[in-house]
Amino acid sequence: MATLIQNLARLAVNTFRRDPKLTTEVFKGRYEQLCDLLNTLTPQDLNLDPRLLHDRGHYNPNRDGAPVTYMQIYEDQDVTICVFILKHGVRLPLHDHPDMYGLLKVVHGVVSVQSYSLGGEVAGETGTGGVFPATKHSKVEVRAGDEACRLCPGDHNIHEIHSVDGPAAFLDILSPPYGEDIRTGYDRDCHYYQELSPSLAQSLAPHLTPGLLPNLSVNPETPNSTWLLSIPTPSDFWCDQAEYQGPSVEINNHNNS
Ligand SMILES: [Fe+2]
Repeated sequence: MATLIQNLARLAVNTFRRDPKLTTEVFKGRYEQLCDLLNTLTPQDLNLDPRLLHDRGHYNPNRDGAPVTYMQIYEDQDVTICVFILKHGVRLPLHDHPDMYGLLKVVHGVVSVQSYSLGGEVAGETGTGGVFPATKHSKVEVRAGDEACRLCPGDHNIHEIHSVDGPAAFLDILSPPYGEDIRTGYDRDCHYYQELSPSLAQSLAPHLTPGLLPNLSVNPETPNSTWLLSIPTPSDFWCDQAEYQGPSVEINNHNNS
């Protein structure tokens, strides 16, 4: 009998395989089905090693190794399925998912997720040092048992994730994957950001497009408007890797319609 993770992977591949014959309606139907199935996932379905989830107190870089552990379950040209394990009191820094869909299902512990949606014109250069107008969404706390968080190319596409009161683990389904996209030739890098305080944003104003910045945080119609500065990967953030030890995931790409 197929396991839940096997069914999940098969459905993820069928949803995200970028088949031009896949209509928007079919995509949406599969996407909702995928979310429903993902919402039933537990750590037992992944056979997560309890040692990876053990709480040793607040993260100590001199004692605990990497703040974050990455575990890949499946990847092809269209979709990545992986697990992130955050130690107690650490964060995945504010990062983007360029033109990607993402589903995040907490399977252990609690995380807080602060999301942003990019909007409007880009001020300054793209890449590190660029400044981007964004909408800041309400911070949410998500725990094992809660529904999966969703992001898509134009919505909630940038987020920062903290573990709350202990280690936390979540499964991510990302499409397309980061890295070189053989279907489009686009190299999909992950970029990191820092939210600009109004004072810092004002100090950068002379370097930005004239007239763009004065609306920051003072336009009553857009109270959640903010600015994000593209920064290098934060030096205190790194991942080690753990091997996935759950049920095997096999996809027959020639027979998955
Ligand atoms: Fe993410």
